Amino acid sequence: MRDVNVGPASEFGDPGRKVIAFETFEVGVFKLGGEFFAYLNHCPHMGGPACQGKIMPKVDEVITADRTSAGMVFSKTRINVVCPWHGYEFDIRTGRHAGNPRIGLRPMPVRVDGGDVIVTVPEARERPAAAMGAEA
Ligand code: FES
Repeated sequence: MRDVNVGPASEFGDPGRKVIAFETFEVGVFKLGGEFFAYLNHCPHMGGPACQGKIMPKVDEVITADRTSAGMVFSKTRINVVCPWHGYEFDIRTGRHAGNPRIGLRPMPVRVDGGDVIVTVPEARERPAAAMGAEA
């Protein structure tokens, strides 16, 4: 593994992201609520560039006491990235699929050091493991 400086933390929007290309893979680095998260840019569905999708609040269904739906609302706390190929949504804070937490994006260690964002990625000759809980 190696540490790579992907630039000043101040260059990221909030929410915001950068997708960085390495030798044989890409990593999406996100900033959300002042925190950083990084994932392999490889969707567990069919390998799409999940980290490059739209960033949007999770949609929740409001269930009333009599167990009927009162409609859909945008979450005020959970923000997802939506894979541009088929619409799988992943929680930016956890990398987990919004509807099936058994699958998710492969996390990469990320930290802020001296104002710069540092992501830890596999060596050039290594190929990172694919996404977690990949489906057939
Ligand atoms: S490849 Fe991401 S939803 Fe299908």
